[in-house]
Parts: sequence; structure tokens; C-alpha cells
Amino acid sequence: MAEVESVRSGVTSGFIVDVPEVRALIEETKRLTSTIQNDAERVEALKPAFQTLLQANGWLPNEYAQTGDTTGMGGGIAAYALYRDPGAALCLFAFVIPSGKTTPVHDHGSWGLVGLYRGRQLETYYRRTDDGSVAGHAVLEQMEQQTLEQGDFYPLLPGARDIHSVGSDADGPTISIHVLANDTGCVQRRQYDLVNQTVKPFRSVWSNVPCSDPAAS
Ligand SMILES: [Fe+2]
Repeated sequence: MAEVESVRSGVTSGFIVDVPEVRALIEETKRLTSTIQNDAERVEALKPAFQTLLQANGWLPNEYAQTGDTTGMGGGIAAYALYRDPGAALCLFAFVIPSGKTTPVHDHGSWGLVGLYRGRQLETYYRRTDDGSVAGHAVLEQMEQQTLEQGDFYPLLPGARDIHSVGSDADGPTISIHVLANDTGCVQRRQYDLVNQTVKPFRSVWSNVPCSDPAAS
């Protein structure tokens, strides 16, 4: 079918899904990245283009709307890279969570935008309250929670709103769309255990393409 044909077979970076809607967002993101230095201001300026992508229908291939046990998030959660900057400075991906599942608490280390494409999700944000001086130890304080309906989106900003967990709050899988200024599936990030107050490095990997570093996949 036409939607699936938009996936470029064998392509692992650049436009993995090559459709006008994806190209428009990536081109606008690159334009704003080169013209706005402040992360919060850049994210704000990017919102209209991101909203346009969220509201468009039919551009996400069906094969990238499926759950699967393919990432470091566990729980049948899948992450499909749609665009990967060859220099690892930017990516766009679809994140699919099965009904009733929640990600581990994690960070991103990047500015970006996250929006809901299908379903309903519960987002919980955390703030780290320890000074990071004890290896493997981390204390988090829960901040706000919000429910995302289809079309809702929010910013990620390092040091302010970068630690969260995301859960499906719908009868079926939820699909969120992320644009972040790194190669999110392959960079080393942090995963937190609230009960045991621990933190450990992790890589979430991509469901559809390998990381260039073999240790990551
Ligand atoms: Fe996240």
C-alpha cells in the first residue's frame, strides 16, 4: 500500500520515511536551529510546524505504528526512526506504547518537542533533588502530571523538563511523535529507579535501524 512504500528500504539515516510532511518539519527545524540560539525560544518557534505534522493524516507508515519488544524501554514499546541527521544532531521518531504500559523514568539530554498522534498518554515529570555526587544514586521529586490527547504536544528542555515517564492511557496502542536534537535511540541516556533511588545509563535503540556503535544495539 502507498503508506508503506514511503519507507526507504535499506536506508538507516537521513529520510528513512521520505514524505513531504516529514521533509517540511525537518527543513523548518534545521532553519530554526541555524537562526535561534536559545533552546526555549527555538522550541517555541518550532511549534507551528510540529503541530502541522501532528494534525496531518496518512503520512506515518502502518509498519511504524506497531508495538514490539524491540527497545531498551521494554514492555513492548517500539521506537521507529523516521529521520536521522547523519551527524546525529537531529532525529524524528514515532514512539509506540502498548495499552496499559509505561516507560521507565528517563531523560533525553536534548531540547525537542513531543506530541500525541494517536491514543491518550499520561506524562509524569520529575525533578532531580540530589547533587549527583554519589555514583548510581539519584533522588527524584515528582512534579506535574498531564494527560495528552491527540494533537497535544509539549517541549523537552535540558535542565528543566527533561526527566519523565510516559504511559499509555488508552484502550489501544498510543503513538507519539518526537523531534529531538540528538540521535535519541543511540545516545547514552539515564534511566531512574524511583523506589531504590538509583540511576543507570541506558540506550533505548531504534526498532527499525541499527546504531552505528555495535555496543548500542
Ligand atoms: Fe521520553
